[in-house]
Amino acid sequence: MILILLGAPGAGKGTQAEMMKNYYALNHLSTGDLLRAALKEGSELGKLAKTYMDGGRLVPDDVILGIIRDYLAAHPDEGILFDGFPRTVVQAQGLADLLTDKEPTAVVLVVPDKAVIERLSSRRTCRECGRVYNPALGIVPALENKCGCGGEIYQRDDDRAETIANRLHVYHTQTESIIEFYREKGLLVEVDGTGKPDIIFNRIKTALS
Ligand code: AP5
Repeated sequence: MILILLGAPGAGKGTQAEMMKNYYALNHLSTGDLLRAALKEGSELGKLAKTYMDGGRLVPDDVILGIIRDYLAAHPDEGILFDGFPRTVVQAQGLADLLTDKEPTAVVLVVPDKAVIERLSSRRTCRECGRVYNPALGIVPALENKCGCGGEIYQRDDDRAETIANRLHVYHTQTESIIEFYREKGLLVEVDGTGKPDIIFNRIKTALS
């Protein structure tokens, strides 16, 4: 099974991916998490990615497709849940070429811009393990500004107001068109991404059944 989670920044892809990967027994590949890990390591990939991510711009397609090509070669015949990939029609076509005979199902979480702005503004993330905290959902650390793993809790650089606006602009101008790419192929499932996370997860399970 190959699933793709689509949706605006803050649509809840990471939140749903945590539940979906266990339920469907899939490897979870978040290109955003992978790029942030590279950044933390200080690798060449991380340094390159930072120049794009801080401004809310997309990392170039050839870099992302190189990562995906390597991942698929290392995990042949395994179920995968893609989160945050593909983000352009070039990436979607590149994935189709790499998957050859396998067809993915794309699940798009539909959430209005106003709601994603509120979600992203209140998100806090652990610098070490990447766990997401959100007081609006009652997800708060036991100790102030300290994750259960001991890591520091911080606000992602790209979760500041100006960058959120740019990420949304990039989504509407560069990423949204891949919804049509999958719809035309009969590979798209649309899910209302508003409401509580467990209710959305139930909608996803129903839509995929
Ligand atoms: P990435 O890390 O993928 O960011 P994103 O797509 O902008 O997604 P987010 O992680 O911000 O949001 P999400 O949809 O996962 O929502 P979440 O569950 O966390 O990418 C970052 C950057 O990396 C990009 O801008 C780009 O530069 C680069 N990049 C990555 N992939 C790339 C690619 N393929 N090509 C090129 N460049 C790439 O939820 C958000 C918040 O809302 C949380 O606080 C959460 O608790 C809360 N929340 C979740 N669900 C609900 C709910 N139902 N109700 C209320 N609050 C909720």
